[in-house]
This record gives sequence, C-alpha cells and structure tokens, in this order.
Amino acid sequence: MNDSRRPMFAANWKMHMGPRGASEFVAAFAELYAPRDDARIVFFPPSISVAAFRDASEGRPDLELGVQDVHEAVSGAHTGAVSAAMAKEAGVGWALAGHSERRREFGDDDATVATKVNRILESDTRPLLCVGETLEEREAGQLETVLSRQIKAVLDTLDGHGIAGLTYAYEPVWAIGTGRTASADDAAAAHAVVRREIEMRGGPADAVILYGGSVKPANIDELLSAHGVDGVLVGGASLDPEGFAAICSAGR
Ligand code: 13P
Repeated sequence: MNDSRRPMFAANWKMHMGPRGASEFVAAFAELYAPRDDARIVFFPPSISVAAFRDASEGRPDLELGVQDVHEAVSGAHTGAVSAAMAKEAGVGWALAGHSERRREFGDDDATVATKVNRILESDTRPLLCVGETLEEREAGQLETVLSRQIKAVLDTLDGHGIAGLTYAYEPVWAIGTGRTASADDAAAAHAVVRREIEMRGGPADAVILYGGSVKPANIDELLSAHGVDGVLVGGASLDPEGFAAICSAGR
C-alpha cells in the first residue's frame, strides 16, 4: 500500500443482518472502534437495513454506508429492485457493482454491470466495482484476460470524470467464502493487472483497489502489506464487531 494513503476497510454483509442486527452491530462496533482519520470505513448492509444502520450510526459520520446492488434502470416495473437514486435518497454514499455473487446468481453480465455503474454515478453515489476470476479461469491462465474484459466493459462506457469516480475491489471468486485467501504475492500480481488496465483506459494511476476473499484478523496484516492493495472488502469476518474492529485497526 502507498503509505501516504489511508486504507479503506469495507464490510459486505451480503444477506445477513436485518434492521435489528444492523442496529446492534453498530452499537457494539462504535464502542470498539473510535473514529480515526487515517482509515476509511464503509458498510454495505442489505437495503432493508440501511435506514436502521443510518439511525444507529448517527453521530458517527466516519461509518459510511452503501448498498450491495442497484437496478440498471432509473425506475419502472421491476419488482423487488432498488434504484441508485432511491439508495442515494436513503442516505447511501456508495454502491457495489459487479460482485461475483450478483454475476453468478442473478446473471449480471459485463454490460449490465457497466449500466449499473453509470446509474450509480448519475445518482452522485460512488461505485465500488468488483472484478475477479474463477478458479477455472485462473487455472486456464485467463487471469489477465478476465480482469481486462471486466474493467474494459465498464470504463469504455464512461467519460474521464466518471472513470475518476471509481473505486475497485479485486475479489478472486475461489477465495470468497472458502477460507482460501490469495497470498500477498497473488494479490499484488492481480492488483498490478487491474491497475494497468485502469491506466490503459484513462483511469488514475492511484485508483483505490481493495482486495476481497476470506479476509480475517489473522491475515489482514499480510494482505495490507501486498504491493498495490489499498484496503479490503470483507464478507463473513465483517459480521462480528470485534473481528471487524480488529481488521479496521490493522496496518497502523
Ligand atoms: P468473504 O470475506 O466471506 O470471503 O467474502 C468476500 C466478499 O465476497 C466480499 O464482497
């Protein structure tokens, strides 16, 4: 990580934590983790828990808030979906796009992800674009091809202003929820590919790129020490206030 930049710690709660759980988590986490200006903390609760999180975190503006997904349309007959503008109105500053679980379970392809990123930017919200390869793709030597395709599909639809507004997460699919973590060398190599692709398509050399996949208190120091890793996107280990507070305190 570049020492002059503050690390970003993001929690993707996936389909965990209803409104009550979110409120209880915030109360516990706020006790364990005092505000500090040398890190950025962002939570992605389920949409149904956004209001409860926002209310519980009043007085803690350092605990930023995002949604895990938005629909690619601005509005309309899309039962069950949430638009980027609605998320913004609910007090959200961030939105994930392209998480591998959305790609796999809900059929979000590269074009859909690109449209969602555009909707998020139009709503004056910050997209956290997730990219990453499956085990089969890695073993077939397709790491660079896959990362390049996923990044190109989005950046080619944006102007310079839009491109400058993106934050990235490299999440190897084989490391998500499996307990198998990329080594610091694996993460550094993949982040270098992501950074090169961003730069080739007009993005900034210092784009923030997080690592995600089985991050926990036991491996956070190693991962943060990897070259080009600017923070982490944490799933399972972010559900425990103590564990996530430990993760957010790492590296300093
Ligand atoms: P785990 O930390 O549970 O592997 O999940 C990672 C992830 O998908 C974060 O978006």
